[in-house]
Amino acid sequence: GEAREVAVHRIKTLLRERNAVLVAHYYVDEALQCIAEETGGTVSDSLDMARFGHEHPAETIVVAGVRFMGETAKILNPEKRVLMPALEAECSLDLECPAEQFIPFCDAHPDRTVVVYSNTSAAVKARADYVVTSSIAVKLVAHLHCQGKKIIWAPDKHLGDYVRRETGADMLMWNGACVVHDEFRAQALEQLKAQHPEAAVLVHPESPAAVIALADTVGSTTQLIEAARNLPNRTLIVATDNRIFHKMHQAAPDKILIEAPTGGHGATCNSCAHCPWMAMNSLRALLKALETGVGEIHVEERIRVKAQLATQRMLTFAQ
Ligand code: 13P
Ligand code: SF4
Repeated sequence: GEAREVAVHRIKTLLRERNAVLVAHYYVDEALQCIAEETGGTVSDSLDMARFGHEHPAETIVVAGVRFMGETAKILNPEKRVLMPALEAECSLDLECPAEQFIPFCDAHPDRTVVVYSNTSAAVKARADYVVTSSIAVKLVAHLHCQGKKIIWAPDKHLGDYVRRETGADMLMWNGACVVHDEFRAQALEQLKAQHPEAAVLVHPESPAAVIALADTVGSTTQLIEAARNLPNRTLIVATDNRIFHKMHQAAPDKILIEAPTGGHGATCNSCAHCPWMAMNSLRALLKALETGVGEIHVEERIRVKAQLATQRMLTFAQ
């Protein structure tokens, strides 16, 4: 309605006045995705969000996503101000891998190279040799495996298992999961596939192995959108957060997109294919952050410097 239009207009004005750029993830409210694109920001996967913010000249980076994405921006850009609409937007993977537990785990295996998923705190990244995102996890681990390295992987067990199957690397695994992707169900997906025999199945690798086994394409959010554009199939079944459909429809307007089935735990599906933390990124919260400056990300310098090393290795490798 009218109130939303006023908010959007005010946000755009403030972005300009504050010399700020909006970097959004595909899982946030489509209104925020639109503002990002209309104001010279971007909507992308975790790796491209990190790159874009790093290369952009704006003094302030506003990150619409979850906390680790804002922290990554700050880790790479200490001289810039990083704001988030929702500082309390967490990620189950990050929460399930506290640094106080992760550091002694690594210390107990000094012969292993530590590779952590970007969905972790700055303190966990600071203990890592490499950070990876889903878009380059297989490539980077394959490279390390080739050099004869044994690996500690954290925190996502499904992504880690997938990387191990693809690369054959020796990986000691943390036991975390994404609350959203963990709920996709293979049996129900198989039934849905049977109803749409012509459909291709697109799966984010944070999903369980049995779901990944049914996939035609496995990849990061950007890679799944690319696959939707390029695959010849008219119908696509998609196992990832359903807010991705906004961009996927734009990329592949003539295709039929179907949500992969989620199980939920009994009657209470607490994620239902939409990340509860991504959902905290509302227009109102974004406006408030820009108006008041609340929601600024800070990372302790001692930790930031170490986390930057591991994150920069990923960016260098990804080039
Ligand atoms: P992408 O890097 O594929 O966008 O994944 C981030 C994420 O949190 C998926 O749940
Ligand atoms: Fe974390 Fe899952 Fe939410 Fe992505 S969708 S931010 S992995 S909880």
